[in-house]
Amino acid sequence: LRVVALISGSGSNLQALMDAAANGGAFEIVAVISNRADAFGLERARGAGIPAEVLDHRDYTGREPYEADLRTLIDRYAPGLVVLAGFMRILTPAFVEHYAGRMLNIHPSLLPKFRGLQTHQRALDADEREHGASVHFVTPELDGGPVVLQARLAVRPGEDAATLAQRVLTLEHIIYPRALGWFAQGRLRLGPDGRPWLDGGP
Ligand code: GRF
Repeated sequence: LRVVALISGSGSNLQALMDAAANGGAFEIVAVISNRADAFGLERARGAGIPAEVLDHRDYTGREPYEADLRTLIDRYAPGLVVLAGFMRILTPAFVEHYAGRMLNIHPSLLPKFRGLQTHQRALDADEREHGASVHFVTPELDGGPVVLQARLAVRPGEDAATLAQRVLTLEHIIYPRALGWFAQGRLRLGPDGRPWLDGGP
């Protein structure tokens, strides 16, 4: 399965996906696209010999023209799946619908709790005893698409957002490759009813 990854930053999730692909995963990261030229994930991609492209949203006057070029760039690589891996741009419904059923995101909370930003601090502020990460299909609603897989941990008394973020990130690195593996094997899909289907077959 050909996968294009969109990033904005460190790319540690991208790294986990590249590692899984290199270790016999049924998918291949064929390109990495960042909206920021200084995203460290671009260096990870280049180090692995994967095309690393920059499409800076600040060079555009609005979302639609940016997304038109983004879509052209993505589709040049003919992916069967697009993954958002810390891509910090809100996407329009038209863009998202073009990739309906073939775009995944990883979000650092137990969705539907804490959509959006600052999830770790918000979980602490809400005195959550559990927190975690979710992989979901992308739909026009921000962080609102059907959840495919979650991992959870117990919040430690007195811990801060930084340690919580780090611990959640280690969970992300486990569940994102797993979800991609399922999708690549044809076991995971978005059903016509809008719910995710996971086929347990051999
Ligand atoms: C992760 O926490 C991801 O869930 C969120 O942004 C962060 C990206 O981290 N959407 P990285 O760039 O993969 O290291």
